[in-house]
Amino acid sequence: MPNPIIKSFWDKPTGSWQYVFHDPETMKGAIVDPVLGYDPLAGAVDTIRANEILDYITKAGIEIVWILDTHPHADHFSAAPYLKGKLGAPTAIGEHVVKVQALWKDIYNLGDEFRTDGSQWDRLFKDGERFNVGHMPVTVFFSPGHTMASITYVVGNAAFVHDTLMMPDSGSSRADFPGGNSRELYRSVRRILELPFDTRLFVGHDYAPEGRAPSCEATVREHLASNKHFKGLPTEEHFLRVRDARDATLPLPKLMLAALQVNIRGGRLPEPEDNGRSYLKIPVGYFESRQESA
Ligand SMILES: [Fe+2]
Repeated sequence: MPNPIIKSFWDKPTGSWQYVFHDPETMKGAIVDPVLGYDPLAGAVDTIRANEILDYITKAGIEIVWILDTHPHADHFSAAPYLKGKLGAPTAIGEHVVKVQALWKDIYNLGDEFRTDGSQWDRLFKDGERFNVGHMPVTVFFSPGHTMASITYVVGNAAFVHDTLMMPDSGSSRADFPGGNSRELYRSVRRILELPFDTRLFVGHDYAPEGRAPSCEATVREHLASNKHFKGLPTEEHFLRVRDARDATLPLPKLMLAALQVNIRGGRLPEPEDNGRSYLKIPVGYFESRQESA
């Protein structure tokens, strides 16, 4: 079985990693977690990152057959619909996205015209489901904790583990968003770390701590040896203490309240109003303030 060729793209404003992987035999490929730019001060969206991906796949001669998201993101908008419009490839996410849709439909007080059946994507993957990219089988792992819907894509010697593990010097991703659960995150990471030692794990974010270069990849062996939260495989209770204490200090992501209402629509802006413009809604007083004190 061939291993995928992987190209990573970093979105500096959000620290997000986006990926294109392809089968070198057939040149068929998939995009993982593409970012649509959003400037919250201007309310402006842009396709700069997505166009970089389009340039790359055009020059490399890759035929994209899937546009994949690992979960509904809280820090950026998904560019999946934009890329589907350009490429015609189907979009997919994990089947439990319907729970995330129901949760946020309530928070945003959306009407029944907003469907919570996942129909905004072409396919919803179940745990253990397999599909092909060229000759390469891709296996889906349900890996919740960061969100209720998160999934990991495993292909050949690579796995796209989204917001479970971070790079080893940063540990793991947070589990404190609505629907997040640090116990589930622990169990998801343990399952990922049962992959073969040489499996290349590609993370969803990196914030380039302490001025090092942004980085996206470490093997299972490297995480077991040096991940800040998982080296030596801590007990679940130990991990929960560390993770929950850390999460209690973190402000909510700047774009969470904007991003979720776009991403529960599969990366689409809300329906335009009668003047042709889309508007985002902010629930006022629903969340407790997490502003850092001066
Ligand atoms: Fe995330």
